[in-house]
Amino acid sequence: MNLEEFFKNQVSETPFSLFICLIEKGITMKNNAPIHFPIHPMLEERWSTRAFSDEKISRETLQRLFEAARWAPSSMNQQPWHFIIGRDKDESWQKIFSTLVEFNQLWAQYSPVLILTVGRKMLEARTESNTHYQYDVGQAVAYFTFQAQAENLFVHQMGGVDFVKVSEIFDIEEPFTPISVLAVGYYGHPERLHENIQKLEKAPRQRNPASDFVFEGKFGNKSTLF
Ligand SMILES: Cc1cc2nc3c(=O)[nH]c(=O)nc-3n(C[C@H](O)[C@H](O)[C@H](O)COP(=O)(O)O)c2cc1C
Repeated sequence: MNLEEFFKNQVSETPFSLFICLIEKGITMKNNAPIHFPIHPMLEERWSTRAFSDEKISRETLQRLFEAARWAPSSMNQQPWHFIIGRDKDESWQKIFSTLVEFNQLWAQYSPVLILTVGRKMLEARTESNTHYQYDVGQAVAYFTFQAQAENLFVHQMGGVDFVKVSEIFDIEEPFTPISVLAVGYYGHPERLHENIQKLEKAPRQRNPASDFVFEGKFGNKSTLF
């Protein structure tokens, strides 16, 4: 499909919140959040595409993504995050890929970078457990994701992973535990995805309203903010 056909298809078939534009790196699909209040454009524009291009991500870019993750806050500054990176179908990439559930393999096969996130359940001194380790790994991933967004990259997080298998393959033992896999890449080639996944790409973004989850006075009492 040439660029003109691609544009025509997208514009005629997609809801209002969905539009496409050209950026330096090629074609990027925008699937902005239908926001209720104005937020930073980076947050508004981030979304979890499943259409990745084969374009490689440079070493310097990847270094910046991990630098962003490095500066995430964490409980007692314990920094309980670790990452195993697979690039451009190398051995680590193949190993991570082999542990994804079938649905995720369908689209993640095109992602140039796969990253396994691993958390440390104990404090560094191994004296007691760190009850916030998953929370902290999640924050590091959020920092990574927003740096990626600033670099015109997309991150798609996955929990659909065989965690027993991935622990065995990478010799991950207590107190470390795998948490998720991230697919990272530039946007591209939605047409090579399974047709059902192409439909998901065009689905409108949805979230609960803030009035459902912001409370006052007592848990469950809606805040007067909204
Ligand atoms: C911890 C976690 C696990 C997820 N697991 C999967 C997954 O296995 N497969 C998948 O296609 N998407 C997965 N997602 C992506 C979510 O479905 C997606 O973030 C959500 O639908 C909201 O869409 P958005 O990120 O485009 O706003 C996961 C996201 C997170 C944060």
